[in-house]
Amino acid sequence: YVESRSLPLSSIEQDFQNNLVSINLSQSGTQIIKIHNATNLSKTQCSSGKVTALKCLECGSRPQYRTRIVGGNVSRPGQFPWQASLHFRSEHLCGGSIVSSRWILTAAHCVYGFAVPTQWAVHVGLTEQPVNGAQSLAVEQIIYHARYRPKGLDHDIALMKLAEPLRFNGFVEPICLPNFGEKFEEGRMCWISGWGATEDGGEGSVSLHSARVPLISTEACSQPGVYQGYISPWMICAGYLEGGTDSCQGDSGGPLACEDSSVWKLVGATSWGMGCAERNKPGVYTRITQSLNWIRQQMEREEAQNPPTLSTDN
Ligand code: ARG
Repeated sequence: YVESRSLPLSSIEQDFQNNLVSINLSQSGTQIIKIHNATNLSKTQCSSGKVTALKCLECGSRPQYRTRIVGGNVSRPGQFPWQASLHFRSEHLCGGSIVSSRWILTAAHCVYGFAVPTQWAVHVGLTEQPVNGAQSLAVEQIIYHARYRPKGLDHDIALMKLAEPLRFNGFVEPICLPNFGEKFEEGRMCWISGWGATEDGGEGSVSLHSARVPLISTEACSQPGVYQGYISPWMICAGYLEGGTDSCQGDSGGPLACEDSSVWKLVGATSWGMGCAERNKPGVYTRITQSLNWIRQQMEREEAQNPPTLSTDN
């Protein structure tokens, strides 16, 4: 499956602008395709200023989810097919999001100090804990942001590379990463999900829970009485200033997902909050648009060093 879109050249990251290829079709007679390795394309021959992006991963769809009345806030199978449960020494510790057949995105604070791949397992395609017939995968590598510090709140992002590729089947699907520079407006309704506590200090839950929450602007989230001075460009707030609905302990690393004309995009990874669902203390999520360069760099570097050997790995 390949999808193509036309994008303004200016929206492509600087690093990638120098890595584009331009194809010129001759106007008449035999079709000759000239491929130029277009170093600094913008200054040379891209008069339209448009580039075509090819996407080879089908992401952000929910093929096994049929909308009907959802009782309470327990999720249905296939409703959040990108949701992963990250187990450390056989216990659910954090959530994560499937971003490709080999990579799970989570929070750095989930893995910091525990970045030993053999002690982790990734469970996908499940709604109930403990794990029954779900796919369970070994972890090959854990990478967290080099600027993450355990006492800080910034750069709270990590990636887990799976030892084997996932099989996508409708109950297990990747979520799309947003586009570089994509804006997610204040008030926009998105979804959080996880097996975390259903009250502050409570136990983790057996069923995957989910809630619909609005995005909160950095200005509103940085007000005195909210999180004045704490909200960096690496964070995005979501939830209700009046309290009542929020992520909580055990949800960390899991998705803040927004639907964009029926394609689901990962906008945040659950990071922190003061208490859970309290007034003026909404959830704070690692801002994925801010982390795109880091995510790509890690995945590309790792894949260049250890290219997949199985042809089924796509
Ligand atoms: N740090 C928590 C965890 O490790 C997530 C907290 C989210 N808190 C909140 N109020 N939204 O699971």
